[in-house]
Amino acid sequence: MKKTTQIAILSAALLIPVSTASALDAATNYSKKCASCHGKDGSGKTKMGKKKGARDYRDAKVQASFTDAEGIKAIKEGVKKEGKVVMKPYADKFSDAEISALMKYIRAFKK
Ligand code: HEC
Repeated sequence: MKKTTQIAILSAALLIPVSTASALDAATNYSKKCASCHGKDGSGKTKMGKKKGARDYRDAKVQASFTDAEGIKAIKEGVKKEGKVVMKPYADKFSDAEISALMKYIRAFKK
């Protein structure tokens, strides 16, 4: 086998697990830390989600109501309504990359 072919195969093998791992992480992180309120389907129609006032991320209007930057800020700093914490901050739980991946994951609920 030619050295260049070997290198190409090697680097492809190295790249694939990295990209799937981050996509998987967002799904795992979401189901562990976010789905209790925002719902597995992003609807926010869980017991906790209804109590805290989570919105329906399947709705295009809801998705359009906040920018990626605002969403990321909410994940990092948490959300307060009328002085009460309705979502806690996750800046110390996840890296910036994981938070961006979660933001993308949330966008994917849009119908
Ligand atoms: C205890 C319930 C709860 C948990 C757990 C929770 N959230 Fe939230 N989240 C909320 C509520 C309530 C809001 C505010 C909704 C609003 O703006 O009216 C919110 C707002 C947001 C927003 C801003 C957009 C918006 O709807 O205003 C994003 C993005 C978000 N959450 C993502 C996440 C992610 C990602 C996780 C997991 C790391 C998570 N949330 C965990 C309840 C929760």
